[in-house]
Amino acid sequence: MPPVINSDLSGKTVMVTGANSGIGFEAAKHFAKMNAARLIIVCRSVEKAKESIKQIEAETGYKNAEPMALDLGDFRTISESVTQAIESLDRLDILVENAAISTAHKYVQTVDGWESMLQVNSLGPALHTLLLLPLMMNTARTHQVTPRIVVVSSEVIFWSDIPAEAVAAPNTLETLSSKEFCTPEIFKNRYVQSKILNIMLVRKLAAILPKSIIPVTLNPGYCVSGLRRQHEGEEAARMKQMEDDFAYTSEEGSRQIVFSAVGGKDDGLELRGEFTSYSQVLEVSDWLLSEKGKKAEDKIWNEMLELFGKLDPRIPSIVAEYLKV
Ligand SMILES: NC(=O)c1ccc[n+]([C@@H]2O[C@H](COP(=O)([O-])OP(=O)(O)OC[C@H]3O[C@@H](n4cnc5c(N)ncnc54)[C@H](OP(=O)(O)O)[C@@H]3O)[C@@H](O)[C@H]2O)c1
Repeated sequence: MPPVINSDLSGKTVMVTGANSGIGFEAAKHFAKMNAARLIIVCRSVEKAKESIKQIEAETGYKNAEPMALDLGDFRTISESVTQAIESLDRLDILVENAAISTAHKYVQTVDGWESMLQVNSLGPALHTLLLLPLMMNTARTHQVTPRIVVVSSEVIFWSDIPAEAVAAPNTLETLSSKEFCTPEIFKNRYVQSKILNIMLVRKLAAILPKSIIPVTLNPGYCVSGLRRQHEGEEAARMKQMEDDFAYTSEEGSRQIVFSAVGGKDDGLELRGEFTSYSQVLEVSDWLLSEKGKKAEDKIWNEMLELFGKLDPRIPSIVAEYLKV
């Protein structure tokens, strides 16, 4: 894994979701060492965030981390978290959408009734990002900087696609979420599909937003972390063996978040809309680049905007102001 890159984040505000564990926690420590003016540690609860902050302080001496709560499996808390962010932050330079789960092929619904990997890994981060757009756009304008939206995806995006039956259905997201559609054959790729949706989000944002915002997605590599904690039996043993044989540490994986957040030339413009891996831009899958992939991307994007508009009254004006195609 290429070494971690460095930057001076004095004066800048960085927010990391899922910053109490694994790759997100390690990325937060790197940002702390870069002297970010404010580092927002977003976790499922304020208690978890405070615990993470204590550890960050102990390991780096950094004292400007602040806790924030957000449960991506509960849309209401996403809106509440963003309201708190808008009230308390005067700028947001780097937003890292890192938090995610793997339910070990178990179909579980969130409190909002969506299949949990679809909501926690894809819909939740997308809603969170869109609601924070005005703050980031304002940061770009007021401070003449190029804020970055960094979405953690995975190299598993090459393993599958969004099933054609779901894309052809009247509502793709609702179809993907429905229990009947999630047969074992379809559902074995659900984590992969959720990470493909992360790529689609970044590609769409890059196509629509002005150049003053840099959306970028990335592959951290296969890392030892808490991600596979729900897996059991033979699969858990196989994954453990893979971890022992060739996995990176979470710190090594976090270097890709850092690269995407502060790396690149020309203010990182060459990373706009791209997928980074091993500190380089990597072309995404043939399916994502194909006509079928683009059609799915457009359809899912429109469905997301419609859904989010019903969830949070701020979305229609954000769409009108920033996301008009
Ligand atoms: N590890 C790998 O090999 C690997 C490879 C490719 C990509 N990735 C990606 O890397 C990112 C980080 O994963 P990781 O490997 O570091 O796993 P991890 O150690 O399990 O960390 C995941 C983080 O997400 C948080 N999270 C889970 N559900 C959440 C929810 N509903 N609301 C808010 N936060 C929630 C977790 O909080 P709790 O502690 O409260 O559960 C935890 O802080 C993920 O996007 C993952 O898909 C990982």
